[in-house]
Amino acid sequence: MEAIVNNIRLSYSDRGEGRAVLLIHAFPLSGAMWESQRNMLERHARTIVPDLRGFGASAVPDGPYPMETYADDIAALLDFLDVRRVVLVGLSMGGYIAFAFLRRYAARIEALVLADTRAGPDNATGKAGREENARFAEAHGAAAMAEKMLPNLLAPNASSEVRETVRRIIAENDPRGIAGALRGMALRPDSTELLPAIRVPTLLLVGQEDGLTAPDVMADMQQRIDGSQLVELPGAGHLSNLEQSEMFNTTLLSFLQRL
Ligand code: MLT
Repeated sequence: MEAIVNNIRLSYSDRGEGRAVLLIHAFPLSGAMWESQRNMLERHARTIVPDLRGFGASAVPDGPYPMETYADDIAALLDFLDVRRVVLVGLSMGGYIAFAFLRRYAARIEALVLADTRAGPDNATGKAGREENARFAEAHGAAAMAEKMLPNLLAPNASSEVRETVRRIIAENDPRGIAGALRGMALRPDSTELLPAIRVPTLLLVGQEDGLTAPDVMADMQQRIDGSQLVELPGAGHLSNLEQSEMFNTTLLSFLQRL
């Protein structure tokens, strides 16, 4: 489905009934990465999965795309769907966007699920790397970007099926969208000070072999969020929802059922 929100065309799916759960995808993927979670969740909840601007079937406006712009897109999509409050699930860049949403629309969050993400901003080296990667994507395209990123996104022993899925989802994206998100992530502020102010039930998930957001980064986050729960998923790297989908789904569902 498509909606014009925040002056752009956003592609999304909206399935199931009941409590609203919105899944925010990682960089540089699309809503397609949540297929397993969507299939499971739609039997229990109203499950909303957008392709963020610049990704999947959504529009690719000029970048950069600050995390606040993504948060505004999501709030506008929720308005369009007449959803007031939502359980927000964000993986990696999806988590950065959840922090921006928290900053702007805290009252609309019923609960939070943060997977394989961090609250801290990029340092100077990280920012320079973003610009380098943005230029790489613009020059060489999305398929080349997929090859470059794959080793960091997955555990060394990830199945060839998962590898192929990730490669395909990334390669289908527009390199201009990839560059827009990279330049947007470089702009994000430090969200660490937001963590103690989180007052909604919060579940943290991390792949035990996540090389981009190591479990100790998420353990530190857990310490700062009152009453939060951290679950480590063995055998998963950064894209834990794809690499250990069964465990991810069971943990997510039991969290939702306790709300
Ligand atoms: C992601 O998975 O969304 C990215 O690894 C986030 C990042 O590059 O910081």
